Amino acid sequence: MSLFALMTMAQSISDDTRQIREEFQNRKFGIFLHWGIYSMLADGEWVMHNRHIDRDEYAKLAGGFYPSLFDAREWTKLFKEAGAQYVTFTSRHHDGFSMWATKASPYNIVEATPFKRDVVGELAQACREQELKLHFYYSHMDWQRLDYPTGGCQNCPHDPATTNWDSYYAFMNRQLTELLTKYGPIGAIWFDGMWDHKEKDFDWRLEEQYALIKRLQPKCLIGNNHHGSPIGLEDFQLFEQDLPGQNTAGFSGEQKVSQLPLETCMTMNNTWGYSITDKNYKSGDELIRRLVTAAGLNANFLLNIGPRPDGKLPDEAVEILKHIGSFMKVNGSTIYGTRGGCVPPQSWGVTTQKGKTLYIHILNKVEDGQILLPLTDQKLAKVVMFADGTKLKFKREKEGCRIFLPELPDTTDCILTATLK
Ligand code: GLC
Repeated sequence: MSLFALMTMAQSISDDTRQIREEFQNRKFGIFLHWGIYSMLADGEWVMHNRHIDRDEYAKLAGGFYPSLFDAREWTKLFKEAGAQYVTFTSRHHDGFSMWATKASPYNIVEATPFKRDVVGELAQACREQELKLHFYYSHMDWQRLDYPTGGCQNCPHDPATTNWDSYYAFMNRQLTELLTKYGPIGAIWFDGMWDHKEKDFDWRLEEQYALIKRLQPKCLIGNNHHGSPIGLEDFQLFEQDLPGQNTAGFSGEQKVSQLPLETCMTMNNTWGYSITDKNYKSGDELIRRLVTAAGLNANFLLNIGPRPDGKLPDEAVEILKHIGSFMKVNGSTIYGTRGGCVPPQSWGVTTQKGKTLYIHILNKVEDGQILLPLTDQKLAKVVMFADGTKLKFKREKEGCRIFLPELPDTTDCILTATLK
């Protein structure tokens, strides 16, 4: 192949990549699902590690896992109604249990449980029906497999005599190959747990693994919750429990906000996997505000649910989804397909933007009936209330553009639509 042909090929690949990254950014709102046999112990997905549970004893949970009320269609219908556009599902979490009919290990939902149904397959089908993109969470760390070389998470240590990195690496790649060949187009692989080995000299061989993913599904994006800046072929940058640029939860470390698509994942309460005691739910309004703020910071919002062991979503989660859905139905056009606006976040809220249209999201109380957009080189042509088109007065000043507000309705997010000249 001539050099020219190769260069054009590289160019077309990057155009494709650019396009799928943009499509991902346009979706803005996704649902994260943490579901596995840990749900039965109802104390989060780290329960095996946190309670020092013996791995053989833990594995026996599988024999009792029968989520009799699980209905993938009911879930995805609700996600769609909530306004979500994609679903990220824990195909295999740190406990090492696979939620699909993997041939790489019998420790999976079809072979090891009386339920015998391929949950991933059912979810993939239901997502297709609702036109929701499916992403797979996949854990790099494994507390169950004896060939996994234990790192920092020492509560479920493996005997160094049985660890075998080559064997474990081949196992992961076999599984990833299944996930990317058996369930149709997959939107993204979302890795987690790599921080178990912080040592610089531990080689996760990501380059080869990422290349495998791109070879199997060139349109599948790669994200990795390694709490650092994106590396290699990674397509988007992840933030755990924080918006980009914040580090209140302590997971954002030194990472800088990159130019890549951004995604913030967050729990509704304090736990990812189902917890029977954690009732510390954020309100629906609060979660709407976080979703909108994420959009204003140019990030997608991935909102987590920990389904119950019987296969139902927690009642609180259902209520919250309905609440978000009623907001998104009316206001979704100010969020989907937008990017963080040209006005950076202010004390009163954030902006999102689509072309020349700037959506001003007033999320906090405005005291003196006016807001200032620090726009110096751009001018406004028009400002209206998004809800009813009422025209608003504005004035050009040295520091920007001042908008005079009417008595604002008491809503979670009061939206103005400004047209830029
Ligand atoms: C953390 C936790 C994990 C959870 C993930 C979600 O990395 O280890 O349990 O799945 O966050 O962001």
